[in-house]
Amino acid sequence: MPLLEASPDRIAAAARRVMARCDELARVSAQSGAIERVYLSPEHARVNRLAAEWMREVGLRTWQDAAGNQLGRIERSADPDPAAPALMIGSHLDTVKDAGRFDGIIGVLMALEVVRLLRQESEGVSRVPLPFAVEVAAFSDEEGTRFGKALLGSSAVAGTWNDAWWTLADEDGVTLRQAFLEFGLDPGRIGEAARRPDHLVAYLEAHIEQGPELDRAGEPLAVVSSIASARRFQLTVEGEARHAGGTPYDMRRDALLGASEAALAVERICRSEHHIIGTVGQLEAFPGAVNVVPGEAHLSVDLRGELDGERDRVWDEISRELDDIMGRRGLRWQAREVHNAPAVRCGLLLQDVVREGIVHAVERRSDEPPVIFSRAGHDAMAIGSITDVGMLFLRNPDGVSHHPDEAVSAADVALGIRALTESVLQLAADRL
Ligand code: GLV
Ligand code: MN
Ligand code: MN
Repeated sequence: MPLLEASPDRIAAAARRVMARCDELARVSAQSGAIERVYLSPEHARVNRLAAEWMREVGLRTWQDAAGNQLGRIERSADPDPAAPALMIGSHLDTVKDAGRFDGIIGVLMALEVVRLLRQESEGVSRVPLPFAVEVAAFSDEEGTRFGKALLGSSAVAGTWNDAWWTLADEDGVTLRQAFLEFGLDPGRIGEAARRPDHLVAYLEAHIEQGPELDRAGEPLAVVSSIASARRFQLTVEGEARHAGGTPYDMRRDALLGASEAALAVERICRSEHHIIGTVGQLEAFPGAVNVVPGEAHLSVDLRGELDGERDRVWDEISRELDDIMGRRGLRWQAREVHNAPAVRCGLLLQDVVREGIVHAVERRSDEPPVIFSRAGHDAMAIGSITDVGMLFLRNPDGVSHHPDEAVSAADVALGIRALTESVLQLAADRL
């Protein structure tokens, strides 16, 4: 039995509002003509202000936490208690460079529409008719674009902040600690962002798929079963910079060629392992002159997989291969690990309520909605260390993401809003 009674017109209006707000947020960017919003930037402050305004519009009490996450909360209607555990629903507002307008953002905006649909006014106070409070989280740094370390915002909320991160620096040499101070946050208070497991009932996140599976299957929504484990490394290859004309090949120790072979090795090894995806997304040569053999090269390696052990075995194999390549070319190499997140399974009850939500939102021929393993990382990974997490995926035409062509249709967003709201009601029914 569906529990949500909302007219199709109301849901369609909610979806239109989400699409319009995605456009509005896309205009808050550090680049003209492209979307870029990184952690602790002026754009971060501006979108937090907008999100807070929209949160208050649907009756949430708002605050920015000690890590710059924007949060809002609405109490349960029976026996309201500001200390009562909350269902947290959200995603992130930061972006990669030259980003699309939906990754993360849509999950925050959909959460607000869920609250709008659930909300009831009583004696001038707005509350939700649920056995738990609801909090909407707009996380401040999921992508790791500025400091290289992903999930900073949600890690602070999960209480897994690591003090070693304070010295991470951005491209201009600004450390995370300095950036906190410039943004008006106190690094000494980071612990105050942490939530305890007893503060939370669960965490739900809606997100575009960032892959083509739903589009290929002609399905608008999916239940997420688990989120990929990830490791990211920054590699340095050292050779010798010398004259491009005068240095014969047998004397060259060209760091860029070693790094290029390394990138090919990452692809070859990962392609031979069916469940691990490896990407070299950054490659830079130094000194970077047209007439100098590169003496040093920097490259990144991003590895994802469903199983932590398999991902680690692949990294070991890549490392052995790099020893070989660099040894042959007279180069030295080293790797600094900048991100390591274990795979996270979505809670079985939450998979179940998301499935119920989709069943009631989407008219379909077969009973079971698709179940997808997420190869992209999400805030749910960090929050998974303090509470059960569940995720709903929306179809992403052609699977284009982390790119300006990233898309989602208003019709799918409407289905997603209905499914997510229904999931919350199903979860509430389960706890009554
Ligand atoms: C985040 O979008 C990631 O998976 O890199
Ligand atoms: Mn992303
Ligand atoms: Mn995302």
